[in-house]
Amino acid sequence: MELAELKAKIAEIVQSALQESDSVSDLDLFNRWKARYLGRKSAFRDLFALLGQMSATDKPEAGHALNEARIQLENRAEALESLIKASAKPKAQKEFLDVTLPGRVPQLGRKHPLRQVAEEVIDVLAGMGFDVALGPDIETDYYNFEALNTPPHHPARDMQDTFYLEGGLLLRTQTSAVQIRYMEKHRPPIKIVAPGRVYRCDSDVTHSPMFTQIEGLLVDRRITFGDLKGVLEAFLRQLYTEDTPVRFRPSYFPFTEPSAEVDIGCQICHGSGCRVCSGTGWLEVLGSGMVHPQVLRNVNIDPEEYTGFAFGMGVERLAMLRFGIHDIRIFFENDMRVLEQF
Ligand code: FA5
Ligand code: MG
Repeated sequence: MELAELKAKIAEIVQSALQESDSVSDLDLFNRWKARYLGRKSAFRDLFALLGQMSATDKPEAGHALNEARIQLENRAEALESLIKASAKPKAQKEFLDVTLPGRVPQLGRKHPLRQVAEEVIDVLAGMGFDVALGPDIETDYYNFEALNTPPHHPARDMQDTFYLEGGLLLRTQTSAVQIRYMEKHRPPIKIVAPGRVYRCDSDVTHSPMFTQIEGLLVDRRITFGDLKGVLEAFLRQLYTEDTPVRFRPSYFPFTEPSAEVDIGCQICHGSGCRVCSGTGWLEVLGSGMVHPQVLRNVNIDPEEYTGFAFGMGVERLAMLRFGIHDIRIFFENDMRVLEQF
């Protein structure tokens, strides 16, 4: 056989081997492909057999060409094999079923402690005839402050460290903003409870930059401070226990006059004095007061005809008392080990 003829045959075999290798997609096809081109009965081996018939001068070059081609195909075979094995392995693992493994128990969700307490508060007030009203977290200065009788120069603005946004907007610092929005759209009698998130630039073990408030508002004819006291006492005794002591302390809010903060007897020491109540036997649970006449005028309700009262409380504070928690940040860390205890 001529050298040129042999080289052409080698090239032909290599070309068809490489071409076919493209469609080799599993181990079975691979073994057949390998047998066809590199096996003992392959066309390739037949060419090796021809080597003996070559002239002595052509032999070395012919042998060299055959070897080169063989190495090329062996390299291809090796690459192909590892590729097939790598892609076949995960499939085999996925299909393996170990019936002796214990079953996976799905994790059940549950109500967050803050939601539990908020729902209790809302339930009690709804039972007294209050409707739920909501407002936006992003507020204007008007609803959060100005309409609540707190103009820009008012010193009471310092009591609430506000997060201001662009364009005259802010994150509401109190759910009292909902009062104004609701009274703009509804005429008395008004009886609402407004739960929601509020924001203040404030952070330590009892203060969180985001926290939850629940606001109550009642406006009607001939509403007096006596009604405020009666409703809040009844509300707190339903929320805690029938014999829980309740006391009113004079306080100040720009949008109520007169104003009062309300304490309940310490639920931990029952009045003898402990760390939670700083030895006083009392715990502050809400702020309240008679709606300021100017606030009613701001929403076109005649303060000569109507009066009302409002109150607001921090849900985290109530939940800390309820569950004996000393660090407010626990509510917002979403640590399953903690949340699972409620
Ligand atoms: C108010 O926000 C008034 N809007 C409440 C009010 C409503 C008074 C209606 C009169 C009529 P104050 O700033 O005190 O008041 O906040 C009310 C409650 O929110 C506090 O008693 C406290 O429990 C809670 N609170 C205040 N700041 C934080 C904070 N950074 N983190 C958690 N709770 C807070
Ligand atoms: Mg306060």
